[in-house]
Amino acid sequence: MSEDQDIRPLISRLQRAENVVALTGSGISAESGIPTFRGAEGLWKTYRAQDLATPQAFARDPNLVWEWYDWRRGLMSTKLPNAGHQVLAAWETTIPNFTLITQNIDGLHSRAGSRSILELHGNIWKLRCTQEGTLVENTEFPLSPLPPLCPDCGAMLRPHVVWFGESLDPNVIQQAFSISARCDLMFVVGTSAIVHPAASLPLAALEAGAAVVEINPEPTPLTDHLEFSFRGMAGDILPRIDRALQEGTRAGGGDDS
Ligand code: OAD
Repeated sequence: MSEDQDIRPLISRLQRAENVVALTGSGISAESGIPTFRGAEGLWKTYRAQDLATPQAFARDPNLVWEWYDWRRGLMSTKLPNAGHQVLAAWETTIPNFTLITQNIDGLHSRAGSRSILELHGNIWKLRCTQEGTLVENTEFPLSPLPPLCPDCGAMLRPHVVWFGESLDPNVIQQAFSISARCDLMFVVGTSAIVHPAASLPLAALEAGAAVVEINPEPTPLTDHLEFSFRGMAGDILPRIDRALQEGTRAGGGDDS
């Protein structure tokens, strides 16, 4: 979105929308200092996903996998939510029927104050027992011992995240699809929109007739299909949309259609 780009048509849609969804990816946390996966500085440029983020890698070398996740926990623990996370947290209370769906595991949406979040790929601050499947919340860094052990049965814990080749929690992804297919406005923020099934959610929204709004400094495979595509940083664009929404609401509608 350039300085002079007219966002009134979007504000007007947002004021009329009955069900609003935001789908976020690692790009929303980039301005907090957390690396994305793809792109020049992306994690997958330096690390091989098949060595670190698959069930096979964990079975082969749990220490190596845990060292990587412990390093990422250390990095994330020093980072704070940014203005993009904060706007989405505020929208949970100011926009009726607002749903936040994220691919991120960093926990920054909840640290910004979002309470109801569909976490498609899990959460790095939760550990799961490899024997019983029970979850433990844990924000310690560094983890000790590494690999960590289940407090109940002593089996090894694993990060409660979705690895390549694993299925998403069926309840979470079903809920995400049903909400996406019912929404009339979806924000797609900071995702390359290439990893499915998450990348299918905006397609479900489009198919249902929703307006989909992309916020990303780069084009994605979605861009050409969208009514609204804002080329810029989430921490800049989301606050601008939010300010315009508040001004429009105070002015008693702002619907120029
Ligand atoms: P990617 O690294 O694939 O994409 C990040 C996107 O964020 C890119 O399109 C960037 O252009 C954009 N971006 C960068 N900075 C931004 C900013 N300040 N504001 C807005 N956008 C910005 O990350 P994801 O799409 O999240 O999965 O990746 C999807 C999944 O692939 C991840 O959840 C992870 C990964 O492998 C698993 O680990 C299962």
